[in-house]
Amino acid sequence: MCGIVGYAGAGEAGPLLLEGLGRLAYRGYDSAGVAVCGDDGRLSVIRAAGRLDRLREKTQDGAALHGSCGIGHTRWATHGAPDERNAHPHASPDGLTAIVHNGIIGNHLLLRSRLEAMGYVFRSETDTEAAALLLHACWLACGESDPRRRALAALRGMAAQLTGSYAICALFAGQPDAVYAVRRGSPLVIGCCDGGYMLASDVPALLGRAHHAVHLHDGEYACVSAEAVELYDADGCRISRESEALDIAPEAADKGGYAHYMLKEIVEQPQALRRTIGAYTGEAGGSLRADLQAAGLGRERLAAVRHVLLFGCGSAYHAGVAGRYAMERLARIPCRAELASELRSRELLLDQAGTLAVAVSQSGETADTLAALRLCRAHGVPVLAVVNAAHSTMAREADGVLLTRAGPEIAVATTKAYTAQAAVLDLLAIALAAARGCIGVREEASLLGALHALPDAVGDLLGVRDSIRRIAEGMAGAHSAFFIGRGIDHAAAMEGSLKLKEVSYIHAEAYPAGELKHGAISLIEPGVPVIGICTQTDTAARMQTAMAEAGSRGACLVHISSGECAVPGAQEIRLPQAHPLIAPVLAAVPLQLLAYEIGCLRGLDVDQPRNLAKSVTVE
Ligand code: G6P
Repeated sequence: MCGIVGYAGAGEAGPLLLEGLGRLAYRGYDSAGVAVCGDDGRLSVIRAAGRLDRLREKTQDGAALHGSCGIGHTRWATHGAPDERNAHPHASPDGLTAIVHNGIIGNHLLLRSRLEAMGYVFRSETDTEAAALLLHACWLACGESDPRRRALAALRGMAAQLTGSYAICALFAGQPDAVYAVRRGSPLVIGCCDGGYMLASDVPALLGRAHHAVHLHDGEYACVSAEAVELYDADGCRISRESEALDIAPEAADKGGYAHYMLKEIVEQPQALRRTIGAYTGEAGGSLRADLQAAGLGRERLAAVRHVLLFGCGSAYHAGVAGRYAMERLARIPCRAELASELRSRELLLDQAGTLAVAVSQSGETADTLAALRLCRAHGVPVLAVVNAAHSTMAREADGVLLTRAGPEIAVATTKAYTAQAAVLDLLAIALAAARGCIGVREEASLLGALHALPDAVGDLLGVRDSIRRIAEGMAGAHSAFFIGRGIDHAAAMEGSLKLKEVSYIHAEAYPAGELKHGAISLIEPGVPVIGICTQTDTAARMQTAMAEAGSRGACLVHISSGECAVPGAQEIRLPQAHPLIAPVLAAVPLQLLAYEIGCLRGLDVDQPRNLAKSVTVE
């Protein structure tokens, strides 16, 4: 999704902005642009549709732009086609102001007609241009003589008239030493670098340049120059905030010798899981105990929970569905897993006192999940955030946070963050079960022991890549595929299906195995791949039946299972022997590899699939 970078410092802004945009490319984009304020005070804007290479060519890697302050943007089209006209930065016709924007301006049509009535002529179809021209109008209307105070007043005047969500960085002609920023609803972070500051919508854009960062909060403004960051609250009062050390090694965000980030991140799962599981287990009285105190979830608090509501989007929702089964089974607690984007269209019917709501999100910025988090809190229900980004908006707004410690995830299709989410939800299920007296100390230790075995089991499983590649060769030409599983394995089926869609563009559907015969079986014809997932002994026989039904109609069967019983005619992938709690997490690994190999065989950009964005910050 759209990405922002900005720079104010002693160096040349152009090359640094291009470099930062390169680090944001993983989020998904379809055009890009930069603006720099030259030493003569004039703004230069260069934009290009398509890949960043086009912008690199047009700007000679940024060297064609002279000046030490600038802003840059990667755009993921929402309002208007992904062409140069609609790319950011958007400048006023007289070149006085230029902005880049992430988010959506809710009242842009109203603003557009007001601004047109004032004589402004729009040159794009974007919502952003309404904010750009409004900023210009506010600048002209402002009586301040000091240019910085005038710019801040103009920004405040603009923000006061905007609805929706935004992170905006702005340049003003005549101010070659300052970048301005304001945010509401979309993230913005200011990185402290040697010799200046970088602004970004996302911490990975700062890696390798910034050592510390200051996070801008909702409603706040900043004026960033080479020497200082000035922060202001919504009323224009100066505020101060300590910068925090960026503890992510820059190598964490490069490919480390792998052909793709997705493959690197699949392979990184054992370490990601070890860090995550280790963070929430401790020892008491010589036995392993789940320890969620970091999120304020002591045993007493957990014992008071009567109902759990899990929500997220995409893979995070699938982790929630898997978590629901674990919580029902281990903690015997009523649990719902909901799509965050649908939650607002439902009657919530939440019991304020007894409900624990859990927002699951890798980025911690997904607009639908954030909106659901806010909705729950507005209903008086405390929300626990299971997020991978420590400084994300969800982490800040939630009542408690359980961090997945997967490290930066760059490939758009999530892998290591998904399995880390599933592990954290298993930990929550174990902690709830212990607090509710459903399991004793010994069983808690044994379940945690099983969870601690997960990283090594994932490591062993990575060896299936060769077998998966052979299966992938047979599937790469398919037009459609089905993923089936029963109970908790349906969550793995949904995740496998989503991964395949995301990176191979093959139409895929996930079905609870028993449901296939109630309609979708009409789509099974010779050669259609049906991937069955079976990690639970109690469902093995019924899974065999469902697979046989598909097989007898000519489906090309792939069976991913932890049991010994094979499905006649199927290509078999055996999962390592594992506790039933963790086996469904294991099943995700061959499904990730399958999608990855098929995407590669089809010659696709598996790290940045078309139309997708890593962090979907619009609703
Ligand atoms: C996007 C991605 C999905 C991802 C979802 C949720 O739609 O394409 O792969 O699962 O966002 O992202 P989150 O950051 O909230 O986990």
